[in-house]
Amino acid sequence: MTPIRFDPEQRVFLLALRSSFYALHLTADGRVVHLGSGPLAVPSGDPWPLVNPDAYRVPDHCWDQQLTPHEYPAAGDVSYHECAIRVVFREPGTTPAEGEHFSGSVRDLRPRYVSHEILMDAEPGFAPQHPLRTTGQRETLCILLRDEIHAFAIRLFYRVSPDQNIIERWTEISNHTALPVEIERLDFGHLPLPVSTTELTYFSGSWAREFGTTKQTLQQGIFSLEQGGLNTGHGHNPFFLLHARNHATEEAGTVWFGALSYSGNWSLRFEHLPSGQLRVFGGYGSYDFGLSLESGASHRTPAMVIGCTGGGVGEVSRQIHHFARHWVLPQTERSLRPVLYNSWEATFFDVTEDGQRALATLAASIGVELFCVDDGWFGSRANDSSGLGDWTPRPEAFPNGMKPLADHVHKLGMLFGLWVEPEMVNPDSDLYRAHPDWVLHYPGRPRSECRNQLILDFGRPEVVEHLLTQLDAFVSEIGIDFFKWDMNRYATEPGSVAGRAIWRDHVRGLYRIMDELRHRHPGLDIQSCSGGGGRVDLGILGRCDQAWASDNTDALTRTRIQDGFSLAYPLRAMECWVTDETNYLTKRTTTLDLRFDVAMRGVLGIGTPLTELDDAELEQYRDSIAFYKKIRPTVQNGDLHRLGLAAENGVSVWLVVAEDRRTAVFSSITLENPVGLMRGPFVLRGLDPAARYQLSDLRGPVAEYSGAQLMTLGLPDFSRKAGFGAHARSITLSLETL
Ligand code: DGJ
Repeated sequence: MTPIRFDPEQRVFLLALRSSFYALHLTADGRVVHLGSGPLAVPSGDPWPLVNPDAYRVPDHCWDQQLTPHEYPAAGDVSYHECAIRVVFREPGTTPAEGEHFSGSVRDLRPRYVSHEILMDAEPGFAPQHPLRTTGQRETLCILLRDEIHAFAIRLFYRVSPDQNIIERWTEISNHTALPVEIERLDFGHLPLPVSTTELTYFSGSWAREFGTTKQTLQQGIFSLEQGGLNTGHGHNPFFLLHARNHATEEAGTVWFGALSYSGNWSLRFEHLPSGQLRVFGGYGSYDFGLSLESGASHRTPAMVIGCTGGGVGEVSRQIHHFARHWVLPQTERSLRPVLYNSWEATFFDVTEDGQRALATLAASIGVELFCVDDGWFGSRANDSSGLGDWTPRPEAFPNGMKPLADHVHKLGMLFGLWVEPEMVNPDSDLYRAHPDWVLHYPGRPRSECRNQLILDFGRPEVVEHLLTQLDAFVSEIGIDFFKWDMNRYATEPGSVAGRAIWRDHVRGLYRIMDELRHRHPGLDIQSCSGGGGRVDLGILGRCDQAWASDNTDALTRTRIQDGFSLAYPLRAMECWVTDETNYLTKRTTTLDLRFDVAMRGVLGIGTPLTELDDAELEQYRDSIAFYKKIRPTVQNGDLHRLGLAAENGVSVWLVVAEDRRTAVFSSITLENPVGLMRGPFVLRGLDPAARYQLSDLRGPVAEYSGAQLMTLGLPDFSRKAGFGAHARSITLSLETL
């Protein structure tokens, strides 16, 4: 049955997904009103035999329009609450030069239904444009609205992915008036939720502490999360969960969730109305927002991804992971992400051809599949004060260029990767000396540097094309298989030739370079990085294969960061490294087993100075990497069940189950190990109750259990004991059906 239906008698749109629904009502006066969303009573069944939309109408009194959950609230009419769109029309006879305060401007928008259609190939704004994107057809409901007076159109789009229970919403505005229209607020979508849906979970943190989760009860008023930058942000990330108080746990309960497919200045606003109703708005950030829509012009926003489940927070993650794996991440020939070596924590800026050759030789010998040279290989980049912008090998470090090292790496059977930070420039660089105007700045005013760098102005098409040409030529000449694409500063003094459009133009330029590189080099993979986890979102994951979650590689802190990351983003996109015994950032010393157990939860990488290890240690690395390769298909493509969270009780327990349930991976990291406190047994989920599973760690078989037993009595705590007290314990087990 088609997932999008319209009942002309009841004037109801129904989006029926595998186990959730979303319904709209067209009122007699042409308003599009939200009827409801939630889990279906019977999964995949007919959602309901009868609808009577009038029964769901709020009491008809003078504040009717305030309480009515408009699908896309506009500033105008009798609305005075938060809105998704705010426009300024200029009346004929007025001129833009007379400014916003001219009495001839109209700040009143009354969108009314005109028509609707179901499209098969609709795409949001900023959608990936490279050939590796998933292009399978999905139905999209498009509802056309028009202002009652002005020739101004709004199209609301709803693209459905029924198997993943996901709806992508976006909005297109078109100015058919004779004059420019100023847009002062523009959301991708708006989600009205039932009264009492007040329990909000969102990401909070900072550099090296990304993906912390904060839970709070929304009180009357507006709670707003904003990122006023050119990346997605370390402090917050555009993802949320909402449910009613005491109504959801990790394993059960109705939860709504949403995420933005966009990597720039964004906003999520949660309005708790005096009536008790909840409304979620997601779109462009308000900081320095401005959009002037010329006569005849249109603008299409990126998507707000929304969903609902009756299966608790764990099911939210499984749904959005599945969605990202199936519909968002580039579909490359590499069905499994390779084991990476990255030089950053081994050599920092001390990058030389000989040093990298030695590391590459050892990396290949322990089973690494992709070798990436980090910062310090280009221009005059002996430290972070110079060279950014000059993407040619540093002559002192690579006297014969980069090709000999790339060839060496390829001969060792590995892929070759390089770190780049294309959006930036050091003032001490040839690029800046040649083009001092190519950076964001206000002429005649200071240009603040952060990490000694300035941001290139992507409002200038020539800047975007310059970078594309340089990177493209370099990939072709040297044979680069992987870019670690970094971005290391916040935006200040956002002066651009594009004016306020720079916030969108920057993201557009970034996406264009990545998409075009992937188009020209289908074998090239990209990792998103922004000083750690500052650029992780469903927009960037449409053109990057994986993301760096944090610069914090301390195994214990990382466990918390990865618990958080896993709420919203799939494990096959989460790059994790095993690094030196004593962490460079926290100075904490941890065992190799623990470091591997933490890093094997996503895409395994190694960042250790391998030349400092002895043969026995290298052997341990080899064994652990071999074990990871065995569990990798399940870790990277399976369904995650979080059985415990580090932040909640000091033990993070993950079970990842393959789709066919023949394999699973159990991973437990006990951060705190108080004397006399028992952990486990851990009751597993999602296995085949009739199957017998062989459990092994990297040293061999550990035990055998039936699926039924593991899902009832549970799995005892087998984690490797390093004593009591402050020592952490951990284990990774492979489960295979016999
Ligand atoms: C920040 C990244 O997150 C690190 O991994 C490293 O690549 C440095 N930048 C290099 O400058």
